[in-house]
Amino acid sequence: MTDISMQYLGIKLSGPIVVAATPLSESIDNIRHMEDAGAAAIVLTSLFEEQLALESRTLDEDLSRGTESFAESLGYLPELSDYRMTHEGYLEHVRRAREAAGIPIIASLNGATKGGWVRFAKEIEEAGAHAIELNLFALATDRSQTSAELEQQLLDLVESVSKSVKVPVAVKISQSFTSLPYLCGRLEESGAKAVVLFNRFYQPDFDIETLEVRPSLHFSTPSELLPRLHWAAILFGHLKGDIAITGGVHSAEDVLKAVMAGGSVVEMASALHIHGIDHISRVLADLRYWLEKREYTSLAETRGCLSRRSVPDTSPYDRGNYIKTLSSYSLRQTVAAF
Ligand SMILES: Cc1cc2nc3c(=O)[nH]c(=O)nc-3n(C[C@H](O)[C@H](O)[C@H](O)COP(=O)(O)O)c2cc1C
Repeated sequence: MTDISMQYLGIKLSGPIVVAATPLSESIDNIRHMEDAGAAAIVLTSLFEEQLALESRTLDEDLSRGTESFAESLGYLPELSDYRMTHEGYLEHVRRAREAAGIPIIASLNGATKGGWVRFAKEIEEAGAHAIELNLFALATDRSQTSAELEQQLLDLVESVSKSVKVPVAVKISQSFTSLPYLCGRLEESGAKAVVLFNRFYQPDFDIETLEVRPSLHFSTPSELLPRLHWAAILFGHLKGDIAITGGVHSAEDVLKAVMAGGSVVEMASALHIHGIDHISRVLADLRYWLEKREYTSLAETRGCLSRRSVPDTSPYDRGNYIKTLSSYSLRQTVAAF
């Protein structure tokens, strides 16, 4: 049988499919079901910096540490009771998930600035998490903050979390950075053992009748995978650590593309919400079938085969492709007009 095991965060995983942070894993029954369906690891939903700061006795310290945007933003944030789990409940959930499952449990912290809340990383480690995924969700809304300052703030956070625990820390980032290769290199220097590409950006929608701005969450489609493939393919071979791809992975073909771009694993959420947890076993069966038919002995041997450093013609990853795509489109348009 083709070997589909993959190495991620220094851990040998049974396969390439990791369950992304989603409320589905808030149930221990679902966690067991995910393992039975073939999930190689599970990322739990996030604990948020704002929640931890509010819960924590270090709130004053956090508020007085000079991060004005943070202090200001607390005024607009949900009440403590609006968060899905208290931090104590979360620690208990990590312990129960560890007991229930034989696969790695990755806890998730979600924040943008370092502060007293970072100490919860240690508590999560002590509760038994095999790794921590740190979701760096920072939105630049302050005209006076430079890109370099914002990036430094995130690097400081990664360093602070990585130094406080022994388990590996993966960093989930958004696509909105000017130089992703540079940033990812710096994230590694700050202690990240993997980058997770990418956070989805939940843009609020407008209600033009009530003149309200409303949060909106929709599930992904496979078209969201393309920018992730592009950046994984560029980063592969330039990082010492691993690359995980999340966003738009729905099928075995998507998994293969992600690995061929350079990913070690994929993290799936939307497809499991849409098709159910058993979707994992269907994707794995399709994946094995595809690899066996083409006589691959392992999935790992395909890793990075379509990365920028592996393909003979790198132009699809560069500016040349952009120009070619736009030029060919306008030619087709001209023909259609006649
Ligand atoms: C309902 C829902 C809740 C989510 N909650 C979190 C979360 O707490 N923390 C996090 O880092 N990502 C969260 N995500 C993002 C997913 O982990 C995943 O990265 C993203 O949805 C892209 O994968 P997909 O295309 O398979 O959905 C959530 C996604 C969904 C659909």
